[in-house]
Amino acid sequence: MHNYLEQAKKLVSQMTLDEKVHLCTGNSYWTTYPIERLNVSECVLSDGPHGIRKVTGKDHLGQTISEKATGFPTSSAMGSTWNKQLMYDIGEALGIECQSIGVDILLGPAINMKRSVLGGRNFEYFSEDPVLCGQLAAEMVKGIQDQGVGACVKHYACNNSEFMRMTIDCIVDKRTLHEIYLKAFEIIVKTANPVSIMGSYNKVNGTYACEHPELLTDILRNQWGFQGIVLSDWLAVNDISKSIDAGLNLEMPCNKHIVEELKASFENGSLKKLDDRVTEMLCVILKLQDSRKRTTKIDWEKHDALSVQVACESAVLLKNDNNILPISCEKTKKIAVLGEFAKFPRTQGGGSSKVLSSNDDNAFSELVKLAEGKTEFVYSAGYNSEGDTTDILIADALNAAKDCDKIIIFAGLPESYESEGYDRTSIAMPDGHNKLILEVAKKYKNIIVVLNNGSAISLTFAHEVEAIIEAWLGGNGGSRSIAKILLGFEEPSGRLAETFPIRIEDDAASINFPGEEGTQIYGERMFVGYRHFEKKNIAPAYPFGYGLSYSTFEYSDINADKDAMNDTENLEVSFTLTNTGNSPATEVAQLYVSNKQTTLLHPLKELKHFDKITLKSGERKKITWKLSKDDFLCYNSTHKQWTVESGDYEILIGASSQNIYLSKPINLKSSDIFIVELTKPSTLMEWLDHPKGKALAEKMLQNYKGFGMAMTGKTFAQLSLFVQRIMLEMPMPRLITASNNSFTYEQLENMLNNSR
Ligand code: GLC
Repeated sequence: MHNYLEQAKKLVSQMTLDEKVHLCTGNSYWTTYPIERLNVSECVLSDGPHGIRKVTGKDHLGQTISEKATGFPTSSAMGSTWNKQLMYDIGEALGIECQSIGVDILLGPAINMKRSVLGGRNFEYFSEDPVLCGQLAAEMVKGIQDQGVGACVKHYACNNSEFMRMTIDCIVDKRTLHEIYLKAFEIIVKTANPVSIMGSYNKVNGTYACEHPELLTDILRNQWGFQGIVLSDWLAVNDISKSIDAGLNLEMPCNKHIVEELKASFENGSLKKLDDRVTEMLCVILKLQDSRKRTTKIDWEKHDALSVQVACESAVLLKNDNNILPISCEKTKKIAVLGEFAKFPRTQGGGSSKVLSSNDDNAFSELVKLAEGKTEFVYSAGYNSEGDTTDILIADALNAAKDCDKIIIFAGLPESYESEGYDRTSIAMPDGHNKLILEVAKKYKNIIVVLNNGSAISLTFAHEVEAIIEAWLGGNGGSRSIAKILLGFEEPSGRLAETFPIRIEDDAASINFPGEEGTQIYGERMFVGYRHFEKKNIAPAYPFGYGLSYSTFEYSDINADKDAMNDTENLEVSFTLTNTGNSPATEVAQLYVSNKQTTLLHPLKELKHFDKITLKSGERKKITWKLSKDDFLCYNSTHKQWTVESGDYEILIGASSQNIYLSKPINLKSSDIFIVELTKPSTLMEWLDHPKGKALAEKMLQNYKGFGMAMTGKTFAQLSLFVQRIMLEMPMPRLITASNNSFTYEQLENMLNNSR
């Protein structure tokens, strides 16, 4: 936005106070305030992260019909593609549709971490891991913005649940905040330069996110170099003057009440940052005005095909015993298709992201179409739209399944089970869905379950069936993609971007979720998702990064170009991937780093790089990743900055967080030197760790007569471990008290002066 700065400053000098304060809020539910006399046009904002939800009315909750647009799979599906290029392509298509429909800023992607599996909007979020989410969403932002449309990355920050979202206070320690909840935003700001960020409803550590100087200015602008604007979530602003000075540019939707308030705050001198915020707004508006291409034509077929591809690449094959999948129509006479989702699938999630899906495909019809008469398909609903079943529905399903070679059961979560606005209270599917599967499994074999849900669920039936595919909320193309995958026209190449726990009690956040008395304490710290399951050695149902394909792969020949490095160097790591199966297939290779230091708490491993690779049967490919200091960082709360600890690390490569096949140790030497200034209450340990303090403290100990040293004549080194520990962790003034007058405050004062 730099190249618009001069133009913006000139405009600010020509604007009246009235015009400036009007620019700080919407002119309508979906537009910014125009200043015709200065050729500043309105900008149109519109949801959402899975497709354009352009409505003209006051509807920020997805209750009215939107204009036609391509409905992509939701973000939990997108996250399961692990495909950066595909994410760019989705962004590009969204940008084209925005230009054509007349939208300047698209309110997406939504990138909050999936802290709890119960999060109501988990269908709308990418992952439990900030690197996977950040790298994928950054590509979507680039795709959108390369079409001259602004992205709006949301919801900044810690909007990880829906319970009391307008007021709840999320209490998060600094290290966890940076390493988990801000990291994806940081990756996107630094690598994709988003035009805007959306401030979230909730508070963070006592302050509303939309009026949080540390979040909106210190971190976002000063540390990360963000050059865009921050707009509020709809009706999220608590105090507009505080928000403007903290770093918010735009209160959405329109709130004319703030005009007089802002004028008064400006005139009484309490409002300090109005011109800064207006200048930032104008830079964005001028940029978007210049990049408008309203004559853009939409190739609906191309976008629709892309939606099908995304759904295919997001489907995760969780189980495939006896390689029952893919089904060969030539060898299969009759298939039962059970479950109402087979004819009435969910394609989107509930709330503001919901797109008018421009087709009414269903998997049953698509299967029949693809089979071209080679196989007979029979259907039975099995349960009703709310997921309830009856003996009659079960009997009908069992009857339909009679004499069938294979049985495909569609199950998952009805819309009422997961939505914006409220969280889940369980990870179970409806009883009717589970009962249908179990009753059929009692009588028959060769059962394939297809899941239609937006977020992790418990799979209590997993041992009773031969195959399970997680097909998510697949957008326009969901039904066509799952039919292609089941019949082998496409392969499933998705990998889980969120852990599937066996029980909700195993989930890290469950003990502090959803919070109480207006507060939600993130007590699990960095241990979210696989970081938690691995640290606590809890077996999940299916781990982060997991997914099967219709082939097998071998990982071999790991190599690193050095065994030791300092933090200014790069580390090149490579390995060979081989498709050892009989069909072409796609693998998602993942690289994790394990920090072996013990001064700070660390997860056992953390994802740092990944690539999706398609190989022919028997094909081998060398995969190389370049690691830098950024891949070894952790956040030091004491010094309020990212740092690298010197010491041993391990590079781990595999097919999921738990399927690690290759490893390589690496020793890292950090150039970060933190010298904690010694002060009166500093402990003996801090003195001995200090470059200048060490000698001064050792000299003091030579004459020290406390803790029995006078009686026994022992030196400090000869004392018992117990007494040494007590002394090491003791603030110096307490050592003076216990020194039998051998150590004085005057001596300590001299030591402090000599330590600086
Ligand atoms: C909603 C959502 C946000 C959406 C906005 C506009 O409340 O939280 O994601 O973009 O309002 O619809």
